[in-house]
Amino acid sequence: MLQRYGKIIGWGVHIPEKVVTNFDLEEKWDTTDEWIVQRSGIRERRFASEEETTDVMATRAAINALKKANIKATDLDLIIVGTCLTEYFTPSVACLVQSAIGAKQIPAYDISAGCTGFLYSLSTAYQFIQTGAYNRIMVIGAENISRFLETGDRSTAILFGDAAGAVIIESTDEPCGLHGFTLGSDGDDKDVIAMNTSSHRGRFDEGHFIKFQGQQVFKFASRVLGKACREALAQANLTLDDVDWIIPHQANVRIIQSAARDMGVPLERFIINIDRYGNTSSASIPLALYENLESGKIKPTDTVLMVAFGAGLTWGATVLQLAPKSEATVAHTQSDAVLGQLAAAG
Ligand code: UT7
Repeated sequence: MLQRYGKIIGWGVHIPEKVVTNFDLEEKWDTTDEWIVQRSGIRERRFASEEETTDVMATRAAINALKKANIKATDLDLIIVGTCLTEYFTPSVACLVQSAIGAKQIPAYDISAGCTGFLYSLSTAYQFIQTGAYNRIMVIGAENISRFLETGDRSTAILFGDAAGAVIIESTDEPCGLHGFTLGSDGDDKDVIAMNTSSHRGRFDEGHFIKFQGQQVFKFASRVLGKACREALAQANLTLDDVDWIIPHQANVRIIQSAARDMGVPLERFIINIDRYGNTSSASIPLALYENLESGKIKPTDTVLMVAFGAGLTWGATVLQLAPKSEATVAHTQSDAVLGQLAAAG
């Protein structure tokens, strides 16, 4: 059998409209814009409305990715959603997306790995592509965390935001896709970031909120980001010089600065949008990828190193080249085709 690779043929996001600035949080949480900016780099974030549940946001991101790829939901073989705080214990968000987009009877499941959920999902999807089991896979990162912040503490309440991001991977025999990856976990540190569901009776219950030990997470993250990047690059037989962009999980700009120092890489090679969205957990990497593909800063043929950490504890890194070198213009061609269709439709 021919060696199978996976190219990213579509990407999409859903970003809630409601902007919540640091100033909006000052009174309620006895905090200041200055403190939040200095300690985290965050200036504003988006909060989902009542209607924008995790599956609704994931579905909208999925539909946008299908449009970008110019394919139908029935062309998909599998849906994987990285998410950790969903409205239902069951069914999965992936099954709700499968139904909503009309991807009839294909397998669909969630992966819970805290903020590392998207990279766990992406790495898993690539295994199915590389073995030839599936040809087109939708991978989504979606989180609606704001509703769990109401009764929390102020260091948590200022960090998180809501969003969803999706990519579609398609099988190809041209070299590209996942060059290397590493995943890890350490359940011994389960209490460092946790939300206990035993008190779960609905939205905004007292005692039902994310708790974390901020400084422990900070130290762990600063250590693990560089380590995970080095491991994924070693597996890919590449070095940092081969990488065009690094997309880190957007948890705290100081964690990213610390990882940049540890890796000896200028901060300019890191993609950073935490100032506008805060920490959107599993959605943070696909959201950053989407924005920078759309702006043209990241080219589909670039080599991108993505790295994340989160509750579990979990961590992961992937070295990805979205499209084969021969398809340097494919993304633009697809965009032009969609624009052409829209223009033709009047
Ligand atoms: O995706 C993984 C999820 N978790 C994370 O990303 C968390 C990573 N950790 C962090 O980002 C940082 O630890 C925080 C931003 C959460 C906190 O920053 P810090 O520099 O570690 O602050 P701290 O927890 O050591 O608190 C310093 C002070 C304390 O006051 P005292 O004891 O020095 O008087 C806190 O009570 O800052 C106080 N504080 C606040 N003050 C104003 C904590 N939260 C706030 C706040 N506004 N929102």
